[in-house]
Amino acid sequence: MTANQQLETSNRQPLHGRRILLGVCGSIAAYKAAALTRLLVKAGAEVQVILTEVAAAFVTPLTLGTLSKKPVLTGFLRDAAAGEWHNHVELGLWADALLIAPASANTIGQLANGLCPNLLCAVYLSARCPVFLAPAMDLDMYAHPAVTQNLARLRSFGNHVFESPAGELASGLQGPGRMLEPEDIVAELEKFFAR
Ligand SMILES: Cc1cc2nc3c(=O)[nH]c(=O)nc-3n(C[C@H](O)[C@H](O)[C@H](O)COP(=O)(O)O)c2cc1C
Repeated sequence: MTANQQLETSNRQPLHGRRILLGVCGSIAAYKAAALTRLLVKAGAEVQVILTEVAAAFVTPLTLGTLSKKPVLTGFLRDAAAGEWHNHVELGLWADALLIAPASANTIGQLANGLCPNLLCAVYLSARCPVFLAPAMDLDMYAHPAVTQNLARLRSFGNHVFESPAGELASGLQGPGRMLEPEDIVAELEKFFAR
């Protein structure tokens, strides 16, 4: 294949050159964020990862920063002593899509209610791009009416909430609550951007 043919092929990939903000929350499914980042990068996307502080206990910035080829963002402040901060407004405007995967019950509740305790929530409120959420939590958390209502509220804002597939959960319980698999999330985004 010539260099031109290669360029044409890569340009036909729906995620090629797309700027994806990947928000990762404190769920046991956060380990899947590494595979998701890798797949998005392989699909040609530019990925900026934002971890919540709790998520950083589940998956390291070193892993996600290496896979995304960009420093991972966590707090509002870059260098408190120097007064440097991460500009959530600029991040929100930079992105072609905000993908939150896994989306925890806690973050879902904050987003549904316009709360803004961390960088990820501030970026969500600032973003003008399409927003995709892949909830991940245990069976009874996912089935709780508070979570169901919060997800319905996010859908009513026009956000795309992926259904959680049923299966075995980390707790050993069976049913919905699992994060949609990284391959399926990427396929959904490709479908969206191919339109
Ligand atoms: C081991 C462990 C696993 C957890 N898994 C989940 C989970 O899958 N989904 C979820 O919504 N919360 C889960 N939690 C609770 C969240 O970590 C907690 O609500 C946290 O405040 C979420 O913060 P964040 O939304 O800012 O990331 C888990 C907690 C622990 C200790």
